[in-house]
Amino acid sequence: MLNFEFYNPTKIVFGRDTIAKLDHLVPPTARVLILFGGASAKKTGTLDEVKAALGKREIHEFAGIEPNPSYETLMQAVEQVRSKNIDFLLAVGGGSVIDGTKFVAAAANFEGEAWDIAVKRGANITSALPFGSVLTLPATGSEMNNGGVVTRKSIQAKLAFHSPLVFPQFSILDPSKTFTLPTRQIANGVVDAFVHTVEQYLTYPVQGMVQDRFAEGLLLSLIETGPRVLAEPNDYDARANLMWVATLALNGLIGAGVPQDWATHMLGHELTAQYDIDHARTLAIVLPSLLSVRRESKRAKLLQYAERVWQITEGSEDARIDLAIERTRDFFESMGIKTRLSDYELGQPAVETVLVQLEQHGMTRLGEHQDHTLAVSRKILEAAL
Ligand code: NZQ
Ligand code: ZN
Repeated sequence: MLNFEFYNPTKIVFGRDTIAKLDHLVPPTARVLILFGGASAKKTGTLDEVKAALGKREIHEFAGIEPNPSYETLMQAVEQVRSKNIDFLLAVGGGSVIDGTKFVAAAANFEGEAWDIAVKRGANITSALPFGSVLTLPATGSEMNNGGVVTRKSIQAKLAFHSPLVFPQFSILDPSKTFTLPTRQIANGVVDAFVHTVEQYLTYPVQGMVQDRFAEGLLLSLIETGPRVLAEPNDYDARANLMWVATLALNGLIGAGVPQDWATHMLGHELTAQYDIDHARTLAIVLPSLLSVRRESKRAKLLQYAERVWQITEGSEDARIDLAIERTRDFFESMGIKTRLSDYELGQPAVETVLVQLEQHGMTRLGEHQDHTLAVSRKILEAAL
């Protein structure tokens, strides 16, 4: 097992009717800015419930954080924080709203142009406002991790940042708040959590026995609950399991002490920035091809994945690996997510564009061995056409 430090200070409050607990979680004298997305938080009544729980506190609102939150929008929230002397942020929404809130928390006290936070990947964050979240979409794990992803529309750049200062203080996870999600977002959440797990699991063996078993448990749970949530939209327990699995898939636990390979996400972010494809859909395009192209360096774990997740035990090694990749692709497709660039009307020119962007963003030595070069990315993208 590799050496590691594990730190996660986020308090999780899980279950039905838990939004009322905001009253105990947010300091009584806080001047709160509630940040949310387009229409869902209002339409579903979650925003009203949040406001009621905050009682007599001074409350301000910032609406309109878009999917793949933009720097341009978030800087308007930063202005509001400064002008209203806000001292506590509360995100109500999915990964985009929570990521956006993390950025606002860090940018509020930042000296200089706040985009530099994204450029330096968060290493230059020295302070951040305290914040919490009310999660309405299980997918990203942002509710219990220290990362965020922000897009600068004007230059079509989508960059991730991390800092121990941007862990949420708390996150409320009420599975019943996800009943209003459209099918497309449920499918996105399942695939995003699946790929997060794979990227901390499908590398090379380091005898991280419990990490492997955890990861396999999360993958098996997603394979079981994903279709169940789609088929039985009113099934609370299926929703609850999906929500907790998605959080555990990216809260640092399964990745501690094992190698990681975030290349699928790095390629995916470029596809979203250029072509506005949903985050999870970009991952479904990249992952199957990546596993196939990288099969030599991932061989041992691919065989373990085939056996323990897909129960594939017969045939040559390559046949087992091929079948495991096919099952993965079929699973994404069964959730209604297309897995080829051509399904999104993209061809060879898109491959060239993404390669230029990857180079520009320094994504030239990716993977668990830092040997995933632009030439490897080319092979993967061409295999995904
Ligand atoms: O904007 P509104 O109207 O609120 O609608 C949202 C949005 O259109 C809707 N929605 C959310 N909760 C709902 C709901 N609709 C009905 N009922 C509800 N309860 O869903 C749409 C998508 O929301 P979004 O927050 O964009 O989705 P998601 O949670 O998948 O977040 C994606 C973002 O997270 C980043 C992605 O790159 C992307 O920008 N990621 C963040 C990570 C992290 N912080 O660790 C890791 C991930 O890999 C990912 O990169
Ligand atoms: Zn993701």
